[in-house]
Amino acid sequence: MAVKIAFVGFGGVGQGLLQILQEKKEKLQQEEGLETEVVAVADLMKGSVYDPNGLDAAQLLDLAAEKRPLDEYEGTASTQTGLSSLQTITETNADMIVEVTFTDVKTGQPAIDHCRAAFEKGKSVITTNKGPVAIAYQELSELAAANGAFWGFEGTVMSGTPALRLPQETLRGNDIQQITGILNGTTNYMLTEMEKGLSYEEALEQAQAAGYAEADPTSDVEGYDARYKAVILANVIMGAPLQSADVSCTGISGITKEMLTEAIEEGKRLRLTAKITRTNQGVEAVVAPEKLDVTNPLAGVPGATNAVLYDCDLAGPILLTGPGAGLKETGFSLLIDLIHYEKQRSRVNN
Ligand code: HSE
Repeated sequence: MAVKIAFVGFGGVGQGLLQILQEKKEKLQQEEGLETEVVAVADLMKGSVYDPNGLDAAQLLDLAAEKRPLDEYEGTASTQTGLSSLQTITETNADMIVEVTFTDVKTGQPAIDHCRAAFEKGKSVITTNKGPVAIAYQELSELAAANGAFWGFEGTVMSGTPALRLPQETLRGNDIQQITGILNGTTNYMLTEMEKGLSYEEALEQAQAAGYAEADPTSDVEGYDARYKAVILANVIMGAPLQSADVSCTGISGITKEMLTEAIEEGKRLRLTAKITRTNQGVEAVVAPEKLDVTNPLAGVPGATNAVLYDCDLAGPILLTGPGAGLKETGFSLLIDLIHYEKQRSRVNN
């Protein structure tokens, strides 16, 4: 039976997933047993549309590409418009909510309420929104489990690069003592461009133009985005209930070209790193600019690329590197969550 999907938020990432589901329809059906049907879409700016019998994906993508509202969808007698996001979650026949609204770094809302509402109804959620995972991981994961719902959030750290499932699945059995990462593409891009001669302002402008930066780049340059990701890694991989307030955080707004040159002269590179360490007192995390020796694999991570190093007691230091943003890449992170949901669903049903 097809997974009935509702998109809550329908910006580039949601559209990216829908495009992938269209392009790979046969492959997903044949190789993963995954069939999907979009039944609802709700977006703060675009409005909403719902049809319990399914919506036409191509028409949804065309409307989005033409920047037309969703109530212009040409449906049938069973098509409705005007449902709110919460109604789309609770009052439609969707069993999977794709939560791709913007991350509010302070409150995590409305995404936290969206996840709560879905789980209370026993509906599953996949999301790329960092807010709910960084702010309410313990509560929401317990709520999902209590209601038999699936919660996937691979894309919250390093987008489609499997920063969460690699340690959760492939590295199982290891004790991971430390995780060190370059988890924010904007700042890594800015620092590497400033080393080549750009000013801080020019580098930020370029990062914004390339689409790496958050809607409000303060979150990138002050380290808040990396701090969120560190909190997610601490909670999900280290099992430690850290909150953002527990993580000391310094961004790159005080970094000058001179400081970068000085580091190079010392045979080092100045990079914004996030470090999560298991100590005798518990798990500690810090986000700050750090001088890395050139031999450190994180020092050579170029531009907007992300990387994370897991210090494993059995497997040794494992480095994972790849894109930390991008519409297709982030769309893929939702796809892999969906594939895991389908696997779990077919296990339960068989
Ligand atoms: N603004 C983020 C970054 C995007 O630069 O890494 C992905 O979270």
